[in-house]
Amino acid sequence: MKNLKWWQKTAVYQIYPKSFMDTTSSGTGDLKGITCKLDYLKKLGIGAIWLTPIYPSPMVDNGYDIADYTAIDETYGTMADFEKLIAEAKKRDIKIVMDLVYNHSSDKNKWFIESKSSKTNPKADWYIWRDAKADGSAPTNWRSIFGGSAWQWCEERGQYYLHTFAVEQPDLNWENPEVRQALFDAANFWLEKGVGGFRIDAITYIKKPKNFVDGEPDGKDGLVAVHAMTANTEGILDFLHEFKRKVFDGHDIFTVGEANGVEANELKYWVGKDGVFDMLFEFSHMNLPFTNGEIWCYSREWKLTELKKALSDSQQATKDNGWYPVFFENHDQPRCINHFLPKNSDPIKAAKTLATILLTLRGTPFIYEGQELGMTNVAWDSIDDYNDIQSHGQYNFALKEGFSPEQAMNFVHFFSRDNARTPMQWDNSKNAGFSKGKAWLPVNENYPEVNAEVEDKNSDSVLNYYRKLINFRADNEVLTAGDYEEFLKDDERIFAFVRSVQNKKIYVLANFILDEVNFSAEILGQSKFIFGNYENNVKGTLKPLEAVIYEEA
Ligand code: NOJ
Repeated sequence: MKNLKWWQKTAVYQIYPKSFMDTTSSGTGDLKGITCKLDYLKKLGIGAIWLTPIYPSPMVDNGYDIADYTAIDETYGTMADFEKLIAEAKKRDIKIVMDLVYNHSSDKNKWFIESKSSKTNPKADWYIWRDAKADGSAPTNWRSIFGGSAWQWCEERGQYYLHTFAVEQPDLNWENPEVRQALFDAANFWLEKGVGGFRIDAITYIKKPKNFVDGEPDGKDGLVAVHAMTANTEGILDFLHEFKRKVFDGHDIFTVGEANGVEANELKYWVGKDGVFDMLFEFSHMNLPFTNGEIWCYSREWKLTELKKALSDSQQATKDNGWYPVFFENHDQPRCINHFLPKNSDPIKAAKTLATILLTLRGTPFIYEGQELGMTNVAWDSIDDYNDIQSHGQYNFALKEGFSPEQAMNFVHFFSRDNARTPMQWDNSKNAGFSKGKAWLPVNENYPEVNAEVEDKNSDSVLNYYRKLINFRADNEVLTAGDYEEFLKDDERIFAFVRSVQNKKIYVLANFILDEVNFSAEILGQSKFIFGNYENNVKGTLKPLEAVIYEEA
């Protein structure tokens, strides 16, 4: 057995605390809610929980706007609640992983309040300040990721500041060593509390180019996506090597960077022996529906071969060096059934098909809350029903581009981040058992059938299928440590690959379409059917959305 680290052998579960479990009837989830569900997570079989931000925040972007990096937001509880969560998780051999949002803070952070107060205060240089152009307009024509100019005028200081995301999320100036040290200190604070690792947010944006210049407009608003102008700027890795040296090195933790804009062929600089993180979330497989950055109204049809290529490229790129975090969902993405499978798919078969791939690719699987139940997208009538700041930005952008309100709503229905943020579905009581108060976001209407309590009792449920797969993977050297090779590469219906250690092989095949398909059974050699999302399988045939695992010992 290859010498794998703990986080390479386990599955990670991502929790969006606001939507997970409310114990105070406030309508918002809390830390005690997570602690009381640890047994559920233990039974699922996961070994680590990634918490999206729980720090004090005005919640303009649900916690990704941090007002204090070393405290807990009171809606989530207290530091004592957090310590209790770590201790209770530890008893169950589960680690807690924190989210570090270091590209920007909240505009209510005391660092920013000081920085904006004058051009001469001690923190004057902690954020990205620039003078207006001669005509008083913004320093450049960059569009923020949530829409509108990426610059905000600040009367108090008489300058503009840069915000890659919302106006309330000013970008920190990583060129300043004091800023870097303050951020590293905060991460060390959480290490001392005993956390098991970090997910590092929006990391590709921390380094800005030397010269700030206008870009070629890519929309009718005359602006250009900030991503195109600042992502992955040369020199970024120097900052991150320092981060690694001063924080991560010497701890038995894992780090996973969120790195939109890094392609599979660049992974070697980011992960592995010369890299800066253990794993990197790159988005080539998630971004297939977009033609122009992540602008929702310029979406496109994509082919299965493109999805297979994106995943296989990442598998190959981390083959001998580094490790891959396998994910199909997170709090920013549509539910995976809606994202990757045909519209009229049977949701139970669909959820299990994707689970089969997620848990058998090479790498650490990340499961997003509710994915293990087969939770799906919602589609509310009006943009006013949506909470997600990005949904509003994208909706307004689509209208400006000339799309009708109905078309703009269709984009929101498909891509809105609220799809992933509806409350966790625990049972069929009010608010799906998430809260006894008024839930901050409505529950998906399918909760009477799709919920943890009902699925726990049904041996054929999505939940029990996840449990089975997680267990199967944890005990299986071929799945944790084995090599990956794709086959039937040009097939637009079937995703097929084989994992192997010496002569032990596991074949995985999944039919992505709603018709039965055939392939040459010889490909599977002498291997035997282990299980799949139908009871039996006829070698060489896959029923609609059928996924199978075959093993050759
Ligand atoms: C990525 C996070 O996942 C997302 O939720 C957030 O809005 C942005 N980064 C900004 O922090």
